[in-house]
Amino acid sequence: MTESLRQSSSEVIVDSDDFARRVIEPVDFVADAAAFIDVRLERSAGKASYSFIGPGVSQNPDQTVNLDVPHGFNIGAAGMASGVVNSQHLHFTAEVFICTKGDWRVAVGEHREQQLELGAGTIFSAPTWVFRGFENIGDHDGWMYTVLGGDDTGGIIWAPDVIRAAAETGLYLRSDYTVVDGADGLSTNDVVKPLEPAQLVSIDRYSDQELAGRAVRQEDLKWSEQALLSNVVTGHAGAMAPVIGHGMTEDRRHRSPITSAHGFSVEWLRLPPGSSTGLHRHQQNQVVILTDGTWDIAVNRDENRLHSRPAQGSVVSLNAGAWRDLTNVGDSDAHAVVVCATDQRAVIEWDPGIVEAAQQAGWSRDAGGYIAPVELIGRPVL
Ligand SMILES: [Fe+2]
Repeated sequence: MTESLRQSSSEVIVDSDDFARRVIEPVDFVADAAAFIDVRLERSAGKASYSFIGPGVSQNPDQTVNLDVPHGFNIGAAGMASGVVNSQHLHFTAEVFICTKGDWRVAVGEHREQQLELGAGTIFSAPTWVFRGFENIGDHDGWMYTVLGGDDTGGIIWAPDVIRAAAETGLYLRSDYTVVDGADGLSTNDVVKPLEPAQLVSIDRYSDQELAGRAVRQEDLKWSEQALLSNVVTGHAGAMAPVIGHGMTEDRRHRSPITSAHGFSVEWLRLPPGSSTGLHRHQQNQVVILTDGTWDIAVNRDENRLHSRPAQGSVVSLNAGAWRDLTNVGDSDAHAVVVCATDQRAVIEWDPGIVEAAQQAGWSRDAGGYIAPVELIGRPVL
């Protein structure tokens, strides 16, 4: 095994204050109804935006950010009632929607020319440099987590019609991309103007088929119970399904449905009742979104171990280099979305106890870091 796979770095110990601020529970979520210039449009009334990790693309400098620590990506959410519309806008870095509640229509194009419907459990990666917006088309409140690429997303560009409509409601965008109420005292040079047709030529286009390939639904997932070495050890029956990028899976047969570089990976993790991932760590920042089930999240080893039992829907940041163990302490399957800050594989360093127990069960990892029978590898690989 190569040195990079072994990852023998010094131990990072998470202190209790840091751990507490990295466990962001729904009770900690702070809705911002003034983050964007479209909030006074009738169709967007009541749209709530959240910034859990990093500021995202908020245009409100007063927006609450739960954890303002650079991770290499931003995580937030949108909560919208039935019928509410989020207006067409464009991102420079990745924007991934993780739908966990409700029925949504995502529209792509300046005039919403292309549309996809997404239900709970679907993850959609909107391409960069295309206008996109979304609408809650269900009967009930909807919720989507969002993952944005980079620490500095560069903000957004609104579709020309949105800037014009917002101006009619008295909201303008200053050249520093903050929202300003009323044009009084603003010079025309201070205000962001709608893009001209000649500028709109730079916007990208994707076929319907290409867009459909960026929506990964539950029925598309390729779950593997050979994704984690710990799976062969009693008490660790975890399974994973990739969505974006290489991620942390150790199943050499896994193929991610979305392979373009996002700056982060996205995978589903599933644990049956009573199972844990087993103690492991990564050298990248990692966030787990606990979409359902009852979880115990532990960090550190031995006498430094800390536990938290965050409520369903929580967003938990796990420090690069820190040991962690995720356990389903409920009585039904638990699911989480795992985000790792890398386009490379998010290689797992297992606790030696897991490595030894797996070897005794006849399994190890090959020189590529993928799970294989010990008898085929020829020699034990740590
Ligand atoms: Fe967006």
